[in-house]
Amino acid sequence: MKVKLTETILRDAHQSLLATRMRTRDMIPVVEKLDEVGYFSLEMWGGATFDTCIRYLNEDPWERLRELKKHMHNTPAQMLLRGQNLVGYRHYSDDVVDKFVTKAHENGIDIFRIFDAVNDIRNMETAIKVANREGAHVQGTVCYTISPVHTVEKFVELAKDLEQLECDSLCIKDMAGLLSPHEAHVIVKAIKKEVSLPIALHCHCTSGMAPMSYMAACEAGVDILDTALSPLSGGTSQPPTETMVASLGATPYDTELDLELLAEIAAYFKKLKDEYRGILDPISEQIDTNVLLYQIPGGMLSNLVSQLKEQNALDKYDDVLAEMPKVRAELGYPPLVTPTSQIVGTQAVMNVLMGERYKVIPKEVKDYVRGLYGRSPAPISDDIITKIIGDEEPITCRPADLLEPEYESLKKEAAELGLVKKEEDVLTYILYPAIAPKFLKGEAVEEALIPVQAEVAVSAPSAAIPTEFRVEVDGDVFDVKVEPTGGVVSVADAPTKATPESVAGAVTSTMQGMVLSIEVEVSDTVAEGDTICVLEAMKMENGVHATHGGVVKEIFVADGDSVSTGDVLMAIE
Ligand code: CO
Repeated sequence: MKVKLTETILRDAHQSLLATRMRTRDMIPVVEKLDEVGYFSLEMWGGATFDTCIRYLNEDPWERLRELKKHMHNTPAQMLLRGQNLVGYRHYSDDVVDKFVTKAHENGIDIFRIFDAVNDIRNMETAIKVANREGAHVQGTVCYTISPVHTVEKFVELAKDLEQLECDSLCIKDMAGLLSPHEAHVIVKAIKKEVSLPIALHCHCTSGMAPMSYMAACEAGVDILDTALSPLSGGTSQPPTETMVASLGATPYDTELDLELLAEIAAYFKKLKDEYRGILDPISEQIDTNVLLYQIPGGMLSNLVSQLKEQNALDKYDDVLAEMPKVRAELGYPPLVTPTSQIVGTQAVMNVLMGERYKVIPKEVKDYVRGLYGRSPAPISDDIITKIIGDEEPITCRPADLLEPEYESLKKEAAELGLVKKEEDVLTYILYPAIAPKFLKGEAVEEALIPVQAEVAVSAPSAAIPTEFRVEVDGDVFDVKVEPTGGVVSVADAPTKATPESVAGAVTSTMQGMVLSIEVEVSDTVAEGDTICVLEAMKMENGVHATHGGVVKEIFVADGDSVSTGDVLMAIE
């Protein structure tokens, strides 16, 4: 039986190795060649690509989809969809899910790979139904993970439920590279026995086992394998396409793909990779057998590194890795995949950075414990529930059943803000209300390919024009002193930076992030522990609490401002 391949280089491969930063203009020149290969599908949308496009690349994700599609004549376009979360981080109402799936299909998606982070089938139902209604190919997904409650029987049961929902194929999604060859064989065989749908296997190389697991899965009857062309393969990405093609040659699983054509395309990406060298994190390219202990998926490791860099705490990497499985067990063993990977990961980061466990709890973690992301695979202990949401009662119904239709009202809101040029803009706004306005107004700028962060050194209050800079280039920090070479610069109007030393009653930011909302006004009286503002950090909403009570004297930040650790947010006396 011939095995087919799904090529991930335009989505998962660069999400795993290049922080999802590949530009559309760098994809276009090679799409027609990719289209000639004879892949089962080309994964090129969804996952983090939507977010990254508007957050960092100043690119319209819908435009990317249409552009790529123009050059694809033979190969189905595939996307990864997080069930009721779509490509965002919360549950959306059914009417939003309906609209998104319909529009994605209309703009070119042929195959929807639909998953739910906690394998709660209720969270996938609406997306599956709509994609079926629109005539798309639906690939129902089982997230693989290891825990006392994730048994082979459990995976088979899930696969049968997905078949009941009329999926066209199934995917076993091994985000973390945890699936051993033996387990791959056992699970594929067990599902094949009970379910008649084609099965795709999606693995990451993180632990080094993936190519062997692919071979074992072939022997158990797998139909489709996910691979990435060699320049962006391995490490936290997929097994290399060319290697799999050659390995399976002359076996009953022969892909019959042309190695010379693949080599030609690989040469293009090899060159491209050099241009993106500044983004490539060496850690994510390595085999990391720690993953066998910590169970952290590909994209998450590279995210974790950049989160910790952002918070200036890369030295805490090992501590956070060790904290992660503890938090995961306490939260009922969710598979670690977006958004549960962010939920567990960010809580672990907070627990370590704050020096006290569950001292700061992002809203998303509370929502997860409230049951708003679905049923956790194992029950969460009362102890942890109380620690996180107090005496609130978690819900037990399908989370989206609690959501009123929201599409029309948010559409109106987006229109009133002047953000809507096409229907798809409404969806972009609904998915990313904090960052989409800037993007949709055309005020976003493309991030530089080589990140350069200039941080102004704390200067004496009177020295207005800073002359000393700390410049970070690709992780290396340089201290630069600037000397005027001529011309007189007026220093009168330059702003003075508020510092904890110069402001009485200063409340400072405990993390690097963006101000989402200010919860108090000048002259308000606040008590210690009150939420005074909400920061978006590490893609999560985090309340900042007053470190002491008093009256708000002055507020130094506004919505949308970026703040660093230690920046003064307000004065409370
Ligand atoms: Co993946």
